[in-house]
Amino acid sequence: MKRGGSDEAKRRAGESAAEAVADGMVVGLGTGSTAAHAIRALGRAVDSGLDIEGIPTSYQSRDLARDVGIPLTTLDEATPDLAIDGADQVAGGDLIKGGGAAHAREKIVDAAADRFLVVADDSKLTDRLSAPVPVEVLPDAREPVADRLGDLGGDPELRAAERKDGPVVTDNGNLVLDCDFGEIDDPAALGSDLSALPGVVEHGLFVGLADEIHVGSDDDVTVRQPGE
Ligand code: 5RP
Repeated sequence: MKRGGSDEAKRRAGESAAEAVADGMVVGLGTGSTAAHAIRALGRAVDSGLDIEGIPTSYQSRDLARDVGIPLTTLDEATPDLAIDGADQVAGGDLIKGGGAAHAREKIVDAAADRFLVVADDSKLTDRLSAPVPVEVLPDAREPVADRLGDLGGDPELRAAERKDGPVVTDNGNLVLDCDFGEIDDPAALGSDLSALPGVVEHGLFVGLADEIHVGSDDDVTVRQPGE
């Protein structure tokens, strides 16, 4: 699905982060169109002799990694040295993710990595997070969780599938409630509130996890630190 800015800007961001990958590394492979550029760049590097293993964060990134020839492993076998993943919105070092409903596995892999590099086109940058926050929820918990998310001011909306009747069902077999909290004053506090709800599998607020943000534009790429 098309999210964010131009494909050229996404390519610059993804390829910039892929340059940080060195021989022998285990790499977390993010989901979405920007992370896909990094995965393709890593596939080309593997063709040229780079020795790495990837840990995918979704069916999408697993299939792409296999297509481009990146050997795969799992968190049972290895710890990622580095993870490269996209974002839907970036404010300082805090992110909203989950536009592709992959945020639960993404957060597990990105948080497990020694370093987490975010890749984003410049349309994703903002001063304050305000995009709807995806909340993955166990199917049986949908109604009580939606009530609690409403109490928190999130105006939850069940994410509908686009080429299937009914809701999006995640790679983990769950549903997604997109919650519009407006401008988020304290992402860490909201994240804690969401995590505390029984039935919530994971939410798309990634607070304090990013180590670098590779921001692509149509003619440039810059590498930012989380505080910038
Ligand atoms: C998937 C994600 C993606 O990384 C995020 O939606 C960004 O996608 P894209 O690079 O296609 O704009 O969080 O769950």
